[in-house]
Amino acid sequence: MPTKTAPKPAKTGTDSDVTDLGLAKQGRQKIEWAEKQMPVLRAIRARFEKEKALKGVRVAACLHVTSETANLMRTLLAGGAEVTLCASNPLSTQDDTAAGLVGEYGIRTYARRGEDKETYYRHIHQALDLKPHLTLDDGADLLSVLHTDRKDLLKGVWGGMEETTTGIQRLRAMAADGALKYPVLAVNDAQTKFLFDNRYGTGQSTVDGIIRATNFLFAGRTIVTAGYGWCGRGFANRARGLGARVVVTEVNSIKALEAAMDGFEVMPMRKAAALGDVFCTLTGDINVLAKEHFALLKDGAIIANSGHFNVEIDLTTLEKLAVEVKRQVRPNVDEFRMKDGRSIFVLAEGRLVNLAAAEGHPAAVMDMSFATQALGTEYMTKQQGKLSPKVHDVPVEVEDFVSRLKLESMGIEIDVLTPEQKKYITSWQEGT
Ligand SMILES: NC(=O)c1ccc[n+]([C@@H]2O[C@H](COP(=O)([O-])OP(=O)(O)OC[C@H]3O[C@@H](n4cnc5c(N)ncnc54)[C@H](O)[C@@H]3O)[C@@H](O)[C@H]2O)c1
Repeated sequence: MPTKTAPKPAKTGTDSDVTDLGLAKQGRQKIEWAEKQMPVLRAIRARFEKEKALKGVRVAACLHVTSETANLMRTLLAGGAEVTLCASNPLSTQDDTAAGLVGEYGIRTYARRGEDKETYYRHIHQALDLKPHLTLDDGADLLSVLHTDRKDLLKGVWGGMEETTTGIQRLRAMAADGALKYPVLAVNDAQTKFLFDNRYGTGQSTVDGIIRATNFLFAGRTIVTAGYGWCGRGFANRARGLGARVVVTEVNSIKALEAAMDGFEVMPMRKAAALGDVFCTLTGDINVLAKEHFALLKDGAIIANSGHFNVEIDLTTLEKLAVEVKRQVRPNVDEFRMKDGRSIFVLAEGRLVNLAAAEGHPAAVMDMSFATQALGTEYMTKQQGKLSPKVHDVPVEVEDFVSRLKLESMGIEIDVLTPEQKKYITSWQEGT
């Protein structure tokens, strides 16, 4: 959650802050393992290395500190950029990866898994001490601190990139208020990102997070998905694939209709609350599971969130309603005992369950998101001073390049329009 009163900036040039540098070798192994599944990003890195496309560009990134992100950082570094990285969520950091980034690749990194709010914001300030030309965000926290507590740095910033839906929503709200001071590329809104990362990445890794935390059998059980956007679609379909009965809740009539025609049961949360064995919120909205629903949950219900911020489940109220809270009945599972004897289990403190309880998206899908990010960084460097301070689309050429190279890496060929076909589909004269 963003805070209104962030702590004072740390000293300029402060060294990295990670949990245990002794984990660096293990981190490198993990980073190299992910790299094998990221052929598009590898190809971009090879070109960046040759051309030094980002020479002298200072990039501050606030992203989930995972092995896939580490490969994006290596790509920017290979292009000649000076980079620094902090976490975009207190629970998503892989401590070995963070150590590997510092110890094996010399990348200044500020991230400790489980860091408190104060440390989280101190780390953002430390990343900003680089005086970035470009910012990379996942949720817009770094950009938001730049626009509030570090306004002095704004004049040096050329632009930014935003990785997730919630971040884009915040940026569009800032732009509408006239508060956004530099152009930002909506990486999330590129087809090479949301169609694959949000759907297949979040879908699979959210199931993975819930299963790793609980060892729960999905087959034959009722799973409730709040939200049928790109992430919700992915999760609902994967849960169904495991044999679950899947219920969808929505507030958007088109998405609700789509879910119904995709064969899911659709109903309001006040009805679904009594039916679900497992709940997962994927909306980007606040209090989707709230007081009125907690009263209806079955004994043993498991609740989780995979939306960006930990606001989708009203945990403050749940805590007040509980007569006892047992932390860590197993890793990433807290038990809330209610007055009537029911237990409700909350996963990963209501934070992104796929990153906190599992490893986040598989590298093969982050290959596309981060290839888009890397090319976006190059694009924003070339566009320095030319774009207005609002949210901009990723150029189609970037999407085209990433999708073509991904297909090639998968050994898939596609047809090419003949000149006759090209002419036909771009003209109006021919009818029946
Ligand atoms: N876990 C991850 O790794 C990960 C990855 C990508 C995106 N995200 C985050 O997941 C969230 C969803 O992203 P998306 O790309 O699917 O967004 P989206 O806009 O495609 O979908 C969100 C859906 O939630 C619905 N919704 C909003 N309020 C609701 C409510 N009260 N009850 C039920 N439905 C409601 C909306 O109508 C919409 O259909 C965002 O916060 C995004 O930043 C997480």
